[in-house]
Amino acid sequence: MYINFWYPVARSQDLGRTPLKVRILAHDLVAFRDQAGHAAVLSDTCAHRGASLSAGKCKEDGTVQCPYHGWRFDARGVCTRIPSIGSKTRPPPRARVDAYPVEERYGIVFAFLGDLPEASRPPIMAVNERNAYIASQDIRVMNTVQPRLTPPSRTKELMMPADKCILQYRDKLDEFRRQGWKLDMPAVQAARARGDTIFAIPCPARRVTRAWVLDEAPRLAPASSETSAVLQVAG
Ligand code: FES
Repeated sequence: MYINFWYPVARSQDLGRTPLKVRILAHDLVAFRDQAGHAAVLSDTCAHRGASLSAGKCKEDGTVQCPYHGWRFDARGVCTRIPSIGSKTRPPPRARVDAYPVEERYGIVFAFLGDLPEASRPPIMAVNERNAYIASQDIRVMNTVQPRLTPPSRTKELMMPADKCILQYRDKLDEFRRQGWKLDMPAVQAARARGDTIFAIPCPARRVTRAWVLDEAPRLAPASSETSAVLQVAG
């Protein structure tokens, strides 16, 4: 799993003024709309004591309110109100959660899960009817294919010239790993199984401030390319 891409979060029609919990890349997120209808996607873990924001409420000031002690977070992930310190005291800088860029297209709410600045982000790919049909065909087949996962070594399969696009795709994945965008899923899952650590997928604001409560999701160290698969012409 890779950060720094646009991911579909919900159908536009399903997102309203009730916080919606979604799990993407093995991390919990909360999606909601403010009173003007703008969608927001945040890390679901409250910066105070770790409660799930998606169990809270959308408030009239465009925030989502934590169900535990009532802290409010706006679409930037900034805590705007802490009831216990009163309305005259500003929340501390670390009272914030990761907030992800959002775009709505094709009737879908997309969130950019990663920390790239806007100028470096890839665009949301155009979708046409033919591509959508091929994708749905592939999903039907892949639901039953075994093994489900790509072999760990490219020498454990036999590619044909027609499979070149697969290798090109994997070269891209290697490139993303070299950029440090591949999540260390065993480390994420081990922490989840222990129940002692919750990570956050880093958002763009982490590049400008170090004031965060949650640690960033662990990522694999950048590595060199894997060896290319054997490309053989059938005969
Ligand atoms: S855990 Fe969210 S306000 Fe306390």
